Amino acid sequence: AAPRDLEGLKVVVSAGPTREYLDPVRFISNPSSGKMGFAVAEDARDRGAQVTLVTGPVGLADPPDMAVVRIESALELRDAVLGAAQTADIVVMTAAVADYRAAELKGEKQAKVAGDVSIHLTPNPDILAELGCEKGGRVLVGFAMETHAGVERAAAKAARKNADFILLNYPTQAGTAFGGDDNQVTLVRADGTHEDWPRTSKREVARRLLDEALRVRGARTS
Ligand code: C5P
Repeated sequence: AAPRDLEGLKVVVSAGPTREYLDPVRFISNPSSGKMGFAVAEDARDRGAQVTLVTGPVGLADPPDMAVVRIESALELRDAVLGAAQTADIVVMTAAVADYRAAELKGEKQAKVAGDVSIHLTPNPDILAELGCEKGGRVLVGFAMETHAGVERAAAKAARKNADFILLNYPTQAGTAFGGDDNQVTLVRADGTHEDWPRTSKREVARRLLDEALRVRGARTS
């Protein structure tokens, strides 16, 4: 049986992609499966935490015994996460948030026209960075997918967003990250210290992530 070492703690997890609609039937998104975030939420629940899982559209059923909030856009994700995070002890952002949304959401389906068209995109708010601005006693964890200079980029991200650590993964490894059941990540702290974790199941990555979050919390409150 799992240790009940998260008893009395509130954990908020974001998962999956966001959808940024261009018109009522078209959107920009990404292939995030939600599996990593669901694994974190399930491990936290099994260790006794009160869990809120905020997820974009994924092909996974609501896990039992936690609050599940289904959202589509980054702006909806932001409202749900910032609301739930008010009283949270640990926030884990695994969601693959779209960096941009359409500057204008068309109310009607856009008809095809001859020739090229362009879409004006505007940046989405960075939810993890917003949480980092008013961090309080919370432990903040992010994920980052990089194709190059991963450790430096992830450390810079952790520092800029005021996250305690980021789990870095790579889109190119077979069976890991997007869609896979396994993950191979590097733990990267804002100060640049890092640890390569072995390739293992997303559930085991989740367990180690929550162990590290508890260590950070213990170091802060002792
Ligand atoms: O996209 P990026 O590599 O910056 O993502 C790093 C972390 O920041 C992830 O944990 C992601 O969930 C979070 N993020 C966010 N809001 C965004 C973009 C990313 O919270 N708009």
